[in-house]
Amino acid sequence: MSKKRDLSELGKKVIYQIYPKSFYDSNDDGIGDIRGIIAKIDYLISLNIDMIWFNPFFISPQNDNGYDIADYYNIDSVFGTMDDFEELVAKLRANHIGVMLDMVFNHCSTSHQWFQKALAGNQKYQNYFYIRSTRKDGSLPTNWQSKFGGPAWSKFGNTDKFYLHLYDPTQADLDWHNPDVRYEAANIINFWQKKGVTGFRFDVFNVTGKSETLVNSNGDETAEKKLYTDTPIVHKYLHELNRASFGQDSQIITVGEMSSTTIANSIDYTNPKNQELSMVFTFHHLKVDYKNGDKWQTIPFDFMKLKELLFSWQESLDKGHGWNALFWNNHDQPRALSRFCNTQTYRIQSAQMLATAIQLLRGTPFIYQGEEIGMLNPDYTSIEEYVDVETKNAYHILQKSGFSENDAFLAVKQKSRDNSRTPMQWTAAKYAGFSHNKPWLASTNQDTINVAAELDHGKIFKFYQKLIALRKSEPLISDGHIMPLLRDDQRVFAYSRYLADSALVVLTNFYDKTTTIELPSKYKRRHGSVILSNYNRTLGELPRVLTLKPYESLVFKFS
Ligand code: GLC
Ligand code: CA
Repeated sequence: MSKKRDLSELGKKVIYQIYPKSFYDSNDDGIGDIRGIIAKIDYLISLNIDMIWFNPFFISPQNDNGYDIADYYNIDSVFGTMDDFEELVAKLRANHIGVMLDMVFNHCSTSHQWFQKALAGNQKYQNYFYIRSTRKDGSLPTNWQSKFGGPAWSKFGNTDKFYLHLYDPTQADLDWHNPDVRYEAANIINFWQKKGVTGFRFDVFNVTGKSETLVNSNGDETAEKKLYTDTPIVHKYLHELNRASFGQDSQIITVGEMSSTTIANSIDYTNPKNQELSMVFTFHHLKVDYKNGDKWQTIPFDFMKLKELLFSWQESLDKGHGWNALFWNNHDQPRALSRFCNTQTYRIQSAQMLATAIQLLRGTPFIYQGEEIGMLNPDYTSIEEYVDVETKNAYHILQKSGFSENDAFLAVKQKSRDNSRTPMQWTAAKYAGFSHNKPWLASTNQDTINVAAELDHGKIFKFYQKLIALRKSEPLISDGHIMPLLRDDQRVFAYSRYLADSALVVLTNFYDKTTTIELPSKYKRRHGSVILSNYNRTLGELPRVLTLKPYESLVFKFS
């Protein structure tokens, strides 16, 4: 069997992400659902995407919006039924759109029967989790912190033991050293594969790599993460899972969410010869506005750092035969537009620029719902409007650490995960055409930003359609190598994609000011044409110096 990645396949695909809770509500209970997604299939088809990643809609108490799964084999009734799901898969498939499901295997809900049986004293299921005694001095088994704040250990029922949870206390970490746990994971994948699912996203997969003996950290956050993140054993788990499930079918697309990973590991996760994953999500490029690595302390984004990160990941994965997932947005990030751009004056141009910059890189682009109409963060005025558990915890922890109430609110307002979780804005109606009833999370700017207006006279959706069409028709984009350009330029992110003797150049101005660039001499006065521009620019050759308008993006292909 050939282990070469079929670039013409993976490189031509574009994946769209749907947050089911917020896409479209078919029964007016204020929560998006599967029948709502079915109702909007024509919209999805018109974008010409190849696959949809759905955030979890399995049975769950929803303490972390479905990332706390109580039954991996069933659909939560809030979202619909198995029949609805099967209908969705069939209708998408009839339109050549694949389904990617979210596999949350680092932890399960404490309501899951595995945990419930463990609590009832069943040894087999106790071995599914990290259940430990306190240390000799009576302190918690380790000093680790939960990623949502507070200690990573909670009391295990009425015993004197504790169980590990790197996230919410209702998300108990599964012990991947236990072959039974790995067997359960493979079974779950195989079950959904039989239902016609052709893609899998693996939630925070690289934190499964804890060592058998859990040890205290020195209190430093980065050092602490290293004790359980991205360790060599993760490769073994992935390879085994690949062989026992999705890897049996070469059509399946997989993506691992890799927290604080390295370039070397990203190559190893995705080099086809290792038989692990198709690609990985990495996050370094979305931390360039963190002060000292702290998400809640926002600084103006460091553009030079952003460029260097994107370039080094791109170049190294190209050389190492790895593969990138390309994205600015997802359900855990504030909207990139609100975050990096001046949307007061240039919402449209900057949305087009950001899309150009990321989508023409080497890899597979992911578009998060609403990105294609230029949705922004909501403008909430009170903490009461937020729902997310991480947000609520952070708001309190920040105040305990000395932030005023107002500063804590401002921090949360910029970085809350709810920024991207607001309902999809279909129309200018009171509830954004998402529901006829008050949604679980409010929208605030649907009067100007909505699908109806966008399809009527907008310029962002059409631009996304063009970008997607380009990826499918232009081998330089789907298969080409990458070369960074203008590395030292303080405003422009630029690169070339090339194959043998053909090439194209992508130029993107990340600022709301005009800026002048000078291209390397080998590109000057070379003939060709503009294949994509957000200012209707035409050029027959690349001039020696070029002045880019605010947020201008330009793709020039040499003839
Ligand atoms: C991932 C998910 C996030 C969730 C966390 C715990 O980061 O994307 O939404 O809270 O894992 O499952
Ligand atoms: Ca509903």
